[in-house]
Amino acid sequence: MKKSYSNIYTFNKKTLGKTINYLKNGNVAGLPTETVYGLGGNAYRKSPIEKIFNLKGRPKSNPLIIHYYNLQDAINDIEVNEYLLKLYKQFCPGPITFILKKKNQSKINPLASAKLKTVAIRFPKHKIIRSILKKIDFPLAMPSANKSENLSPVCAEDVFDELKEKVKLIIDGGKSKIGLESTVVDLTDTPEILRPGVININLIEKVLKLEFKKNTKNKIIKSPGMMKKHYSPGIPVLINQKKHDKKSAFIYLGSRYQNKKKFFSLSKKSNLKEAASNLYTIMRKIKKKGYKKIQISKIPYKGSGIAINDRIKKASQTL
Ligand code: TXA
Ligand code: MG
Repeated sequence: MKKSYSNIYTFNKKTLGKTINYLKNGNVAGLPTETVYGLGGNAYRKSPIEKIFNLKGRPKSNPLIIHYYNLQDAINDIEVNEYLLKLYKQFCPGPITFILKKKNQSKINPLASAKLKTVAIRFPKHKIIRSILKKIDFPLAMPSANKSENLSPVCAEDVFDELKEKVKLIIDGGKSKIGLESTVVDLTDTPEILRPGVININLIEKVLKLEFKKNTKNKIIKSPGMMKKHYSPGIPVLINQKKHDKKSAFIYLGSRYQNKKKFFSLSKKSNLKEAASNLYTIMRKIKKKGYKKIQISKIPYKGSGIAINDRIKKASQTL
C-alpha cells in the first residue's frame, strides 16, 4: 500500500486556493516544477526567505532563483537585455535560469539574492507552478526542496524524504520530467554557462549566434552556490568506473547488465535525456536500499550528458 503523508496534497481547485493563501501569508511550500521540486516563498518578503534558508540549512551567501509567470512580471526587478530576449523567446517557459543585473527599484528582498547586484530569474513550465504564479502578485524565491548539499527532489515523496514535516504543504505534481536542475546562464556580461542543464550549451550558442568562453576558473566565484560538494546521495560516489567491485551499486547506460542485482541502468536505450531524468531517482533508491557506495560508469560528454557529468562529479566530491 502506498504510504500516506499528512503534508502531501493532490492538486485541485481547493488545494490551489489553499496554496495561494498559504504563500500570501508568508509561508513556504514544496512545489513541483519540470526540473526538480522547489521550496517556494514570497521573494519580496524577508520572513519566507529566512524560512527557506533555515529549512535547507543553506548558507546565506548562496542566492536563490526568483520564479515568475512571464517576463512582463519581472521587468521592474531586472535589467532586460538582447540576450535575455532571444533566449526567453526560444526557451521560456522552460528549464533555464538567467543571471541579470538587478534594478535599483527592484522589490526582491536582498536576502534572496545574497545582497548581490545581480539576480537569477526563471520561468518554469510545469502547469501547476504556472497556475500558482499566475494567481499571486509576487514572484517566488525557490531553491530545490532539499537539505543543502543533498540530491534535489524529483517527486513529492522526495521532498518529504528531505524535509519531513517541517514543510506543512507539499503539492504532488508527479515526477519532474527533466529531473535535473535548470541550466544557469549568466547574461550580465558576455554570456557564460554557470550550471549546465538539458538546455545545453550548443542550443544556447545557436540562438545567441556566439561561442561561449569555455569553462573558466572564475565560474566558481561567480556563482556562490556552486560549491564543490553538492547533489550528494549521502554515500560515496565514484565516477568513470570500469569494473564492478562486487559490493557497490553500479550505475550505467544501456541494457548490458539487465536484471543483474546491484546494476542500475539510467536508460536502457542509452538516451541521455532519459538518463538525466532518472539519475536522482536511482541514486535515492540505491541509498534507501542500504548500499554503502555508488560506482558510475563513464557517461558521454555530450548533450544532456554534460549536465549529468557535472552533477555526478560534484556528487563524488568529498569536501
Ligand atoms: O531547476 C531549478 O533551477 C530549481 C527549480 C526549483 O527551479 N531550482 C534550483 O535552485 O536549482 P537552487 O537554489 O538549488 O540553485 C540555484 C543556483 C545556485 O547554484 C545559486 O548559487 C545560483 O543558482 N545563483 C542564484 N543567484 C545567482 C546569482 N545572482 N549569481 C550567480 N549564481 C546565482
Ligand atoms: Mg539546489
